[in-house]
Amino acid sequence: MVEEEVERTIEALLQERRTFAPSEEFTQQANLKDPSVYEQASSDPDAWWASQAERLHWFKKWDTVSELDPPHHTWFVGGQLNASYNCLDRHLDEHGDRVAYHWVGEPGDRRAVTYRELHEEVSRLANALKDLGVTKGDRVAIYLPMVPELPAAMLACARIGAAHSVVFGGFSAESLRDRINDAECKVLITADGSYRRGQTVPLKENADEALRDCPSIEKVVVVQRTKDDVNMVEGRDLVYRNLVSDAPSECEAEPMDSEDMLYILYTSGTTGKPKGIVHTTGGYLTGVASTHFNIFDIKPETDVYWCAADIGWVTGHSYIVYGPLANGCTSILYEGAPDWPEKNRWWSIIEEHKATILYTAPTAIRSFMKWGTEWPQRHDLSSLRLLGSVGEPINPEAWIWYQEFIGGGRTPVVDTWWQTETGAIMISPLPGVTTLKPGSATVPYPGVSADVVDEQGKPVGPDGGGYLVLKRPVPSMFRTIFGDDQRYRETYFGRYGDEIYFPGDGAKLDDDGYFWLLGRVDDVMNIAGHRISTYEVESALVDHPSVAEAAVVGRNDPKEGETIVAFVTAKSGSEGGEDLMQELRNHVAKVIGKLARPHSIVFTDDLPKTRSGKIMRRLLKDVAEGRELGDVTTLQNAPILDDIRTKAASLHADE
Ligand code: WT7
Repeated sequence: MVEEEVERTIEALLQERRTFAPSEEFTQQANLKDPSVYEQASSDPDAWWASQAERLHWFKKWDTVSELDPPHHTWFVGGQLNASYNCLDRHLDEHGDRVAYHWVGEPGDRRAVTYRELHEEVSRLANALKDLGVTKGDRVAIYLPMVPELPAAMLACARIGAAHSVVFGGFSAESLRDRINDAECKVLITADGSYRRGQTVPLKENADEALRDCPSIEKVVVVQRTKDDVNMVEGRDLVYRNLVSDAPSECEAEPMDSEDMLYILYTSGTTGKPKGIVHTTGGYLTGVASTHFNIFDIKPETDVYWCAADIGWVTGHSYIVYGPLANGCTSILYEGAPDWPEKNRWWSIIEEHKATILYTAPTAIRSFMKWGTEWPQRHDLSSLRLLGSVGEPINPEAWIWYQEFIGGGRTPVVDTWWQTETGAIMISPLPGVTTLKPGSATVPYPGVSADVVDEQGKPVGPDGGGYLVLKRPVPSMFRTIFGDDQRYRETYFGRYGDEIYFPGDGAKLDDDGYFWLLGRVDDVMNIAGHRISTYEVESALVDHPSVAEAAVVGRNDPKEGETIVAFVTAKSGSEGGEDLMQELRNHVAKVIGKLARPHSIVFTDDLPKTRSGKIMRRLLKDVAEGRELGDVTTLQNAPILDDIRTKAASLHADE
C-alpha cells in the first residue's frame, strides 16, 4: 500500500476519537477478566494453548503441545480426538435437550434442533455416508443452503474422519466443479434449491452442470428443501431424508489424530485457482473453542448467540458450527436475506429469540445504516449484550451506529481480525478487559504474536504503518494448501522467511500499540467481507467472446467498503455499451457467482501498460478512486490514461 493511501485511511479512521472502557458490570461477569493472561500467554504460549486444549475431550492426550518446523507446525502431537464427538456427544449427559440451533427458514418456517436431535441426525448420516463408501481421509463436497442439514453434514464427515469441503451456495456451477475436482471429492451433498429473497436458487441444477465434469464423484445426496421437482440421476443421486431415516442411529466417533485433516475450504489468492486451505482437528478446534468462549464471552446456559454469516465461509465454519457447538451453546441459524420480506427481518428474529450476541460484517451494518434506524427501532433489542464485527475494516461511523442503534449504547463491540487461513480470530478485544477504539481490532488474542513491519521486515513501532505479520504459529492456523505445499511456502512465507507468516494485510500501530487493519496489499479485493481476486474476475471477463482485455481493481471507500471496477477493452466489432455491460455482469455471475459481479465497467480502447506489457492496476485504482495519478513514467502508453479518466468520470458522478 502506498504511503499516502495509508495516511488517508488513517485520517478517515481517526475522526472518531472516543474510546470505550469495559463497564465494571461487564467485566465482573466476564469469562476472561484478568489482563495478566496476555503476559502469561506470551511468556509461555505452549502452556497457554495447552490450557485451551483442555476445553476439549481427548480420547488420548497429546505427547507434545507444538512441534515447529518452519514454515510447518503441528499441535497436540500424539493426541486423539473427534470434532463431532466434541461438538455433540460430550454435551448429551448434562444438556442434551438444550437447543443447538434455533433455525429460521426464509419463508418463515422454523425448527429448533437440540443437541440430542443433532447427535442422532449426524450419527445416522455418518452411517449412511459409510454405506456409500466414504472412509477416513476421503473428501466430501457440501453445497447447501443455510439449513440444519448443513452443519449435520459437516459433523457427519468429521465423525467418520472424512474431510468436508463446503462450497458457498452462491457460487456458480463452474466454481463448484473446480473445487470438487481440486479436492477429488467422492460424494456431493446438495439440495434441490435454496431460498433467496422469495425466489429459489436452483442448486441441484448447478450441481448437475458441475458434475458433467467431475469424475471423482460417485454419489450425490440431495436435501429436499424447496421440494421443487429436480432431476435425479438413477444410481447416483439419493434423497437425503430417506438415507438418514434408513440408517442406524448409533455411530461411534472415529478417533482422529490431532493433525488429521478436518476440512478444506477454498479461498481466493492473487493468481491461479482458489487455494484449498487445509485445517486439521486438534489445533483448529482448540483455537475456535477458545476464541469463541473468551471473545464472545459465551455463557452456554443462557446465551442465544447469532453469527449471521453463511456457513459457506470460514466465519460460519468456525463461529456457527465448530466453536459454538464445542462450547455447547445455543445459536440462531437463519437461512435468508436480511431484507426479506422486510428490512426488519434480523431485528424481528433477535426479538423473537431474545438473542444476546450478534456477530456480523461491516457491509451488513452499512446496509442497515442506509435503510434507516426505524427498522431496528420497531423491535425490542434489549436482550443483546455483545456485538461483533468481522470481514473487513469497520469504519468508526458504522461501529458507533452499530453500538448505538443495535446495542442500545450498552454493548461492547468486538472487531475481530482473522482469515480463512488462521482458522480462528487473531486480533480482537477481550470484552471484559480491553478498552475499545472504534475502527481498531485492538490487540492480538492471548498467545498470538503479531506485529507491523516495513518492506524489509523491520518492526515499524508505535505510530508506524506497514504490513501485518504473525511471528509464531498458533494451533488454529492452516497447515498447507491442499495438493500444493510449494504455493503455501511461496504465498505466505516468501516475503519474510519461513518463520514469519504474511497475511497480505496492511496495518498501522498507534501509540498504545493498538492494531488498525487497513485492507489488502495484494491483488485481492474484499467484497462484502469476502475475498475475491482481481485475477479471477479478469479471467472470467476475458473468457467472454466480446472481451479482448480486462483489468479489475477494488474501489475503496471508507464508508462504502470495496466495490469491483472493471476496465474492459472490447474486441473489434463489439460495442462497449450498456448492453454489453449487463451481459458481462451476468457472465461473471455465471462463472464465479453473483458476489464477483463488477459494480461498474469502464470500456476503454487500451489499458495502461508498462514497457514489458504488464497492466498497471495501481493507476487504474487511482482512476477508480478519483485521485491524482501515481508515477506514470514506466508506462509505454501514458496518453491512454486521459482517455480512461474521461470515460471513468461517471464513477464519480454522485460524489
Ligand atoms: C481478510 C480475510 C475472517 C472471516 C471473514 C473473511 C479482511 C477480516 C477483518 C477485520 C479488517 C478484516 C482481511 C483479511 N478482514 N476481518 N476485523 N478488520 N479486515 O475471511 O475471506 O479469509 O478474508 O478479510 O483483509 O486478510 P477471508
